[in-house]
Amino acid sequence: MDATDHELAIAFCEQESIGLVVIGPEAPLVDGLADSLRGEGIAVFGPSQAAAQLEGSKGFAKDLCERHGIPTARYIRADSRQAALAALDSFAAPFVLKADGLAAGKGVVIAPDRTGAESAIVEMFDGAYGAAGAQLVIEEFMAGEEVSLFVLTDGTHILPFGTAQDHKRLGEGDAGPNTGGMGAYSPARVLTPDLHAAAMERIIAPTVAALAAEGMPYSGVLYAGLMLTAEGLMLVEYNARFGDPEAQVLLMRLESDLGEYLLACAEGQLAEMEPPRFADQSALTVVMAARGYPGTPVSGGAIGGIAAAEADGAKVFQAGTALDDEGALVASGGRVLSVTARGATIGEAQAAAYQAVDRLDFPTGFCRRDIGWRAVVRE
Ligand SMILES: Nc1ncnc2c1ncn2[C@@H]1O[C@H](COP(=O)(O)OP(=O)(O)OP(=O)(O)O)[C@@H](O)[C@H]1O
Ligand SMILES: [Mg+2]
Repeated sequence: MDATDHELAIAFCEQESIGLVVIGPEAPLVDGLADSLRGEGIAVFGPSQAAAQLEGSKGFAKDLCERHGIPTARYIRADSRQAALAALDSFAAPFVLKADGLAAGKGVVIAPDRTGAESAIVEMFDGAYGAAGAQLVIEEFMAGEEVSLFVLTDGTHILPFGTAQDHKRLGEGDAGPNTGGMGAYSPARVLTPDLHAAAMERIIAPTVAALAAEGMPYSGVLYAGLMLTAEGLMLVEYNARFGDPEAQVLLMRLESDLGEYLLACAEGQLAEMEPPRFADQSALTVVMAARGYPGTPVSGGAIGGIAAAEADGAKVFQAGTALDDEGALVASGGRVLSVTARGATIGEAQAAAYQAVDRLDFPTGFCRRDIGWRAVVRE
């Protein structure tokens, strides 16, 4: 079904008596699919078009933070090449340049020097990110470790929904280009209970309250990307959905019934729910990508060994896979599999995940071998 065809989605939900729609990816949220379905009385998990601007427009999110005193990097919005080039005078290297709109995780450039920043600005206004780059946000560089914090909210009530750390770079040791994410683990203990409380109090709660006060209450999962800087916690960005591969590690630890929580959000009944229960265990996921990713991936490579990989309790989530003419499983995308395991520590979860990876037979696939390294060093 074409997710941009709202009439079709409504007709399908009515015909099949769908009781709850969960909108996973960001594009249909920013496109207002939740509003269209809710308008017909269909229960939806996911924010309205107005509230999804938190992810859909980086400038919108920054302006909201500024209006409400939420800690984030100092920034300037620019809607022309000239304005953007002039704004560079207000910052020092490294320069952080962001396409305002959705760019599939690839719209941020961190330029080490002024020349690099200038050429990135020229490329963005030349359409490198299409309409998403018609406006830029230029912001101060924040040094520190990143961590992701998730909450469920129905616009009023907020329930924490776990923490994770993603690995966005392609290469080991966090080198190379940004990707959609090459692996993740949960929980991220670098966010100590004190820091978690501070993030809830200074970042999450004021954001949810601000959106409600401004007439666009946020309903769904709110994903805060945080930076632990020397000056304290700062917001890097918001996403309006569960991340991939963060969802894999969060859900492997969830012991409560996910459906009940999503429905409670959709129906504005989150206050009735106990905090969700998560296993004390850690979870870690390793993304297996097809050779060529994040450029053009090799398509059609055979994948075997899934049952063997899952034999000891690991779970192989399939993303970019398909069945070929003979019914055999093959790769059909960039990030193909997420091999996920649990353990008493991040180290044990890591060992179990790589044992499962090694039982797979996917010759055209590759993965990072160091997912979780920061946490394992700390352990
Ligand atoms: N001000 C900053 N200082 C330092 N690093 C930054 C800053 N802003 C962004 N980054 C880095 O760039 C990455 C991507 O930025 P951001 O999260 O805003 O973009 P995105 O494309 O929405 O990412 P995602 O796909 O994770 O949603 C961040 O995870 C962080 O590593
Ligand atoms: Mg984002």
